Amino acid sequence: MYEDLLPHDLPTEAERLDRMARAHDPDTFAVIDRLNLPADATCLDIGAGRGSVAIRLAETRPQARVTASDLDLSAVRENDLGNLTLARIDLREDDLGEAIYDLIHCRAVLCFLPTRTDALGHILRALKPGGALVVSEMDFGRIAAGPSRFWAMVWTAYLDFAAAQGWDLQFGSALPRQLSQLGFTEIDARHIQPMLNPAGNTAGAAEAETWSLTLATLAPKLIGGGFMPEAMLTDALDIIRNPGAWVPGPGFMVASARRPSGPA
Ligand SMILES: C[S@@+](CC[C@H](N)C(=O)[O-])C[C@H]1O[C@@H](n2cnc3c(N)ncnc32)[C@H](O)[C@@H]1O
Repeated sequence: MYEDLLPHDLPTEAERLDRMARAHDPDTFAVIDRLNLPADATCLDIGAGRGSVAIRLAETRPQARVTASDLDLSAVRENDLGNLTLARIDLREDDLGEAIYDLIHCRAVLCFLPTRTDALGHILRALKPGGALVVSEMDFGRIAAGPSRFWAMVWTAYLDFAAAQGWDLQFGSALPRQLSQLGFTEIDARHIQPMLNPAGNTAGAAEAETWSLTLATLAPKLIGGGFMPEAMLTDALDIIRNPGAWVPGPGFMVASARRPSGPA
């Protein structure tokens, strides 16, 4: 399970989640800002990690009521925002309620859950009619095909490791169709594939640092489980950490969708 492999009390986990937020918040907020949310929107961030999305929503929308939720809330950054509350929610089993939220955000959570499609159904029900979901999920497919034979082998090995944990890191590619089949409307989705390069203070550099930390953290499992030879992992990390190398990173599907405004 996710919480066994990447628990929040690992020494580098807060940093890894911070890098991840820095890499993805610009794409997430580009989508959220297009939604024309009401000023007093009720918002839920599921699997909030460090809480970067929930915190920014609460900071920039003082009339909004924002809940940051996670299986483990210990990583949420300290803040004194009066319109932000914390809630422990396990998306596998907890009830999200019915018709409560104007916005639900969920990023890089569903792919780790065996119950991911059911969870999307619970999210739909928890939205108010006309309410919006912003969801980002890993969509590795294209990277496992190249651009070099070595790079394809690295990420195919990582996908095999993930599949052995019950993770579906290609879930992003199925997301638009699943949203449609579940009854969401106004589905807008785009595949984003960042280039990894650690130089500078950029979202792409944060992405490179995120993957550098992720692979280093999971190294004992990747190597010990026989998914990746140590030399392959060392070479892959050297490439990701090399400011002279530009390689594509794993892709993400970033989607928004609404609960229909009429009766279900
Ligand atoms: C990869 S992190 C993403 C964090 C954050 N959404 C972001 O993008 O910056 C995955 C998060 O999902 C949380 N998580 C994992 N399984 C969960 C579950 N069953 N229910 C709720 N949250 C879960 C983890 O604790 C972690 O904070």
